[in-house]
Amino acid sequence: MLYQYEPEYISGQFIAEQLSISRTAVKKVIDQLKTEGCQIDSINHKGHRLIQLPDKWYSGIVLPTLQSQKLFDHIEVFENIDSTQLHAKQKLVGNNDSFLILSDEQTKGKGRFNRPWSSIKGKGLWMSLVLRPNVPFDMITKFNLFMALGIRDAIQTFSKETVCVKWPNDIYINQRKVCGFLTEMVANSDGIEAVICGIGINMNQTAKDFSGELAEKATSIRIHNNDKVDRYAFLKTLLQHIEYRYAQFLNEPFSAIREEYIAASNIWHKQLKFTENGIQFKGEAMDIDQNGFLIVRDEHNQQHQLMSADIEI
Ligand code: BTN
Repeated sequence: MLYQYEPEYISGQFIAEQLSISRTAVKKVIDQLKTEGCQIDSINHKGHRLIQLPDKWYSGIVLPTLQSQKLFDHIEVFENIDSTQLHAKQKLVGNNDSFLILSDEQTKGKGRFNRPWSSIKGKGLWMSLVLRPNVPFDMITKFNLFMALGIRDAIQTFSKETVCVKWPNDIYINQRKVCGFLTEMVANSDGIEAVICGIGINMNQTAKDFSGELAEKATSIRIHNNDKVDRYAFLKTLLQHIEYRYAQFLNEPFSAIREEYIAASNIWHKQLKFTENGIQFKGEAMDIDQNGFLIVRDEHNQQHQLMSADIEI
């Protein structure tokens, strides 16, 4: 309620009436929120006003913020978890639900090729989305292409600088990675049972939060936005874009977004290093075909058609 009414003051009495609880219970919760880091201005005979939230997901804010979305049936919010992706894979068994898992921190965040994914507390958006598209399993590559544009568009609305897609799974701002995502699936010969899309977005890190290798390779949205990013506003925007792209994925061929995808990509006119199925080669990206495959010309002038790969820029 404090978030909903911000920047207004609301009285303890009003909160108590709305939630059908006692004023003592309201006071107890407000004190608890303050110890968690919520900055709340409380004035006698006037009430309480939210000044600032801590870097934390509150399900009481996440749920109303995402109320209008139609992508999933329920949301689970964690302060700390090994990996939202691992948890999502356990939770999808034995039901047909679509759902979202969010965590403030991951202790065993995993990226593509089983690489560790740094997921420090409160700074990023670490989430896994489980969806149930009724499509054949070879559509997963196409799913990835649509998701990339959805994530790119969401980050772009919060960044002063151009946000690019690095085919197939990364989002970049100025030569640095701001987001990585991975798409896994559970499928049988009849089709896909579940798609699990794990998304890691560096949202509110400052430059000093990135150390070691990341200091040169990573960036965050905040670094390209004058201010700290409102995590709830960003989450809402992201899910709106994902919802739009998911509907497009279900109803349209890749060719509908091909030009847009090519224009958003940052891999053209460069010598790149590719790793495909453990084999490395250097080359130049030439095109993305009607199916979303990357067409590459290697240094021996051989042409490759890649469905997925790891690319070093
Ligand atoms: C990559 O660039 O290699 C993909 C990174 C994906 C990281 C996200 S964070 C949320 C979800 N949980 C995980 O353990 N991994 C994904």
